[in-house]
Amino acid sequence: MTEHQLDTLLSEQRRFPPPEGFARRAKATTALLQDAARGHQEFWAEEARALDWMRPWDRVLEWTPPHAQWFVGGKLNASVNCLDRHLAGPLRNKAALIWEGEPGDRRVLTYWDLAREVRRAANALKQLGVRKGDRVAIYLPMVPEAVIAMLACARIGAVHSVIFGGFSAESVRDRVNDAQAKIIITADGGYRRGQVLPLKRLADEAMAHTPSVEHCIVVRRRPGGEGDESFAGMTEGRDHWWHRLLDAASAVCEPEEMDAEDLLFILYTSGTTGKPKGIVHTTGGYLTQVATTTKYVFDLGPEDVFWCTADIGWVTGHSYVVYGPLANGATVLIYEGAPDWPERDRFWSLVERYGVTVLYTAPTAIRAFMKWGTAHPARHDLSTLRLLGSVGEPINPEAWIWYHRHIGGERCPIVDTWWQTETGGIMITPLPGITTTKPGSATHVFPGIVAELVDNTGRVLQAGGGFLTLAQPWPGMLRTIYGDDQRYQDTYWSRFPGRYFAGDGAKLDEEGYWWILGRVDDVLNVAGHRIGTMEVESALVEHPAVAEAAVVGRAHDLKGQAMAAFVTLKDGYDASPSLKDDLKAHVSHKIGAIARPDDIFFSADLPKTRSGKIMRRLLKDIAEGRALGDTTTLADPGVVNRLKDLYEAQEA
Ligand code: WTA
Repeated sequence: MTEHQLDTLLSEQRRFPPPEGFARRAKATTALLQDAARGHQEFWAEEARALDWMRPWDRVLEWTPPHAQWFVGGKLNASVNCLDRHLAGPLRNKAALIWEGEPGDRRVLTYWDLAREVRRAANALKQLGVRKGDRVAIYLPMVPEAVIAMLACARIGAVHSVIFGGFSAESVRDRVNDAQAKIIITADGGYRRGQVLPLKRLADEAMAHTPSVEHCIVVRRRPGGEGDESFAGMTEGRDHWWHRLLDAASAVCEPEEMDAEDLLFILYTSGTTGKPKGIVHTTGGYLTQVATTTKYVFDLGPEDVFWCTADIGWVTGHSYVVYGPLANGATVLIYEGAPDWPERDRFWSLVERYGVTVLYTAPTAIRAFMKWGTAHPARHDLSTLRLLGSVGEPINPEAWIWYHRHIGGERCPIVDTWWQTETGGIMITPLPGITTTKPGSATHVFPGIVAELVDNTGRVLQAGGGFLTLAQPWPGMLRTIYGDDQRYQDTYWSRFPGRYFAGDGAKLDEEGYWWILGRVDDVLNVAGHRIGTMEVESALVEHPAVAEAAVVGRAHDLKGQAMAAFVTLKDGYDASPSLKDDLKAHVSHKIGAIARPDDIFFSADLPKTRSGKIMRRLLKDIAEGRALGDTTTLADPGVVNRLKDLYEAQEA
């Protein structure tokens, strides 16, 4: 965030009290806050009782910092909570999933349909030798099978590791190897902006170097045209069509009794090193937090059509496309493709067609909609919407107001929700019906969550700017980093001993409202996606021309942050526009298109401190065209000025 943006944010004076009608019927009431005030363990235990348990827990929390166990001794199954318990009553024949593919193909699965497909998929996995505790990688576009596959894993106690469909073959390979996955579930293709994403081919490339993988299951989308199955390049014995396996599988499958602390999933996310971290989530606590936050933050129930626009490959997709809304018996809309395909009103035509009641999306999308103009939403009837959500990055007040006015018709409360892959569920958020919101502020902690602002010595601050920390364990917290508990302890618990440090800077105003200012570590947030600068730097230096690389974020109107890479070349290579393109393509190929740098600057040197550390802050200043700060610690201060001149020349 630039200083200008920060000033605008903090001078925001507008207030939006909950609309009267909403407040009267809202699921979250002030009584909820009183319950939470009695103690966070009691609060979460009360909420956990709303789930179906096969065996009750003995103790709510066992806390041996930094390791927490929630609902110790309790047994449950996540798929039962999302499906089976809805089948006895009126939800049985209600839509659980409404799906629309980018080309316009559609499917609706009732709760009964979804439960049946999940059991068949679970049996198919078992037949391929998957047992409780085994890891299954899911590399799919946004199709119903992605949800079915996740819940099928949950049913038999397999641990899913969903890999975003936009990741490259190498990224898939690394994640599959880290988790030692036995199975990859993928598709012959998916659609994005009219293009076919050949996932199976990428999976094939990955599988050339993933010895743990025994089988690959392929969902058929037929991107090669009707009847064409050759597109997927099936390998006899290893690869199986999803539909054939399921056709042959029984629809009877008893759920595995899972310990509250058994793994539900691993999800890889970027950190401050070159290697993504496998964030580990377990069953009981995670499900409790996502079910509870879904109910109160989105005010969600069976009458709702909930559309969380996140891809299933991110935590938002896990918690608020799959587990949270299905646990609450809602109808979930999933859409495969881009918001501007074929036209820039696709989202609004979906809201209108399916009567979406609650929409949850990202500021980067809202800013794009703003740019595209109000005519697109104005063409559609959006009157079914009653609540709007935002997630993934700080939302600027201007975008908030636009969302409120042009999408919410000035009648829908907005919940700006702060959380992370690591927190599993929402942590700081308004409660619609209770909270008076301020555009740009995520407002207050969710009941049962204890967040504290600290200064750089770890002293707790009541107001002002500092670091966002969590002072008490919460049910949905990550339990560890897969295979690397030391890294878990170092990354999250060492900066401020006894506290979880989220990596975000924040401000608390005089009225106790949280304003999240974004990452203070080497993690970028580009269009709501987390990208580690080190990951991109390691990808760049793997290119034969590159000697050294430093990647920083710079403020960007639409994406929040854009990525600027400063590169020094090896002898014998010349800076050229085509080399720039080549380097960008190289990073896309290595990591995935989301990590493609926006700008590349060639430079003879990089500014370093005397101890050899690259001065990223300085590069950021340069990339954002700001006046240069103190450079007295630079080994070669001349470097900075040369860089600055160079930047300005290349910019022109
Ligand atoms: C940022 C996504 C400001 C933050 C759920 C955090 C936000 C990172 C907000 C986690 C918000 C998320 N306001 N910043 N409402 N929500 N962030 O793991 O920097 O993909 O640390 O989880 O996104 O990103 P992740």
